[in-house]
Amino acid sequence: MLTNDQLGKWDRENFFHPSTHLAQHARGETPTRVMTGGSGVYIEDRNGTRLLDAFAGLYCVNAGYGRTEITDAIAKQAKELAYYHSYVGTGTEASITLAKMVLERAPKNMSKVYFGLGGSDANETNVKLVWYYNNIIGRPQKKKIISRWRGYHGSGLMTGSLTGLELYHKKFDLPFPQVKHTEAPYYYRRADRSMSEEQFSEHCAAELEKLIQAEGPDTVAAFIGEPALGTGGIVPAPKGYWAAIQKVLKKHDILLIADEVVTGFGRLGSMFGSDHYGIEADIITIAKGLTSAYAPLSGSIVSEKMWKVLEKGTDENGAIGHGWTYSAHPICAAAGVANLKVIDELGLVKNAGETGAYFNKAMKDALGGHANVGDVRGEGLLNAVEFVEDKDDRKFFDPAKKIGPLVSAALLRLGIIGRAMPQGDILGFAPPLCLTREEADKIVDGTKKAVAEVLG
Ligand SMILES: Cc1ncc(COP(=O)(O)O)c(C=O)c1O
Repeated sequence: MLTNDQLGKWDRENFFHPSTHLAQHARGETPTRVMTGGSGVYIEDRNGTRLLDAFAGLYCVNAGYGRTEITDAIAKQAKELAYYHSYVGTGTEASITLAKMVLERAPKNMSKVYFGLGGSDANETNVKLVWYYNNIIGRPQKKKIISRWRGYHGSGLMTGSLTGLELYHKKFDLPFPQVKHTEAPYYYRRADRSMSEEQFSEHCAAELEKLIQAEGPDTVAAFIGEPALGTGGIVPAPKGYWAAIQKVLKKHDILLIADEVVTGFGRLGSMFGSDHYGIEADIITIAKGLTSAYAPLSGSIVSEKMWKVLEKGTDENGAIGHGWTYSAHPICAAAGVANLKVIDELGLVKNAGETGAYFNKAMKDALGGHANVGDVRGEGLLNAVEFVEDKDDRKFFDPAKKIGPLVSAALLRLGIIGRAMPQGDILGFAPPLCLTREEADKIVDGTKKAVAEVLG
């Protein structure tokens, strides 16, 4: 049997890892971790170490690890027909069934779903659809997309531009000029600390209005946002935010893309974040929770309003010039069908709401009083603990001290995976939606110990 050391050597010599400090890893300064199995909220590595994965991979293994209902469906589909394309009206029972299941769960104004592979390509699709839509209805100058600072929408060229995090732009010559960023809906980091949450939401809407006016309303096509900020810091929307934002968008006839790659299929305790916050989107992006990451699959759900224009566009111009070889891949679609059934049968959306509320309260009770914990926030099974040097002055730590990564490493030594979010000293949690109260207690207890180890 290959040892980890042999694999580690091959890994350093051959494997270009995403989102990794390449030089440190090549020098062997960061370990190669080889994962081998998983069950429920636990994942195991090759050394037999069992870890409670409180981030569900990359907030995607929503049904939990080792669900044989999903793996059996994948095996069955692979044996019957591993692949055929979905161009020119072709499909499989799995892809057609999944489209129906997605629409049954989506908000009522939604009409059709286009399948891709991951969240990034789905958002690329969305931008193309928005541009196509405005060309068909005779608004060729209305093309800019507004995103938020700290939004995360992928790491392609356009989607990396939409992402509002410095690391994804720096040295990549991004963002593209068609993309503009507005204020992050991040109440804890508001500049004016005298504002209430509602006032801050109005302020964000006013900032958006200002940006639209500066750019020219006739040039702004769409606004994209995650219902709750994810990778940018795990921040539930402040009170009144989505109502205030949608008022501005409606006024200027600007389309709304709800990026539900993280929030879709239950993470906030509602089937979609759009239901949760009263968002009426024109397009909804889905990925991760669609298959619980058992196979790569994403989707762009388009509204009836957009669909009608897309149909008109093809009557005028021929077949839509957009398609991936692996769109609606049968194996991935079979995983999606089985996964959505598991989510229903186990009541995982309800559990995310109920166990999530318990988990968020327990984390706040355990850590809210710590001198270096500025904020504990959460919604459903999303939670974040934010560290500060001085709580009263809300003075943040020097990023060079790497407090977030140090706490996350201490937590890992206790057998629990929490994610040091990429911008700010923020420890994020997004466990599988099957989390129990006992498992939630374990995460809270471990976090308390890890924080004490690093910060006293
Ligand atoms: C909200 C959101 N959109 C898009 C993406 C990109 O998805 P992918 O990594 O599958 O391309 C992510 C990934 O984390 C995400 O969180």
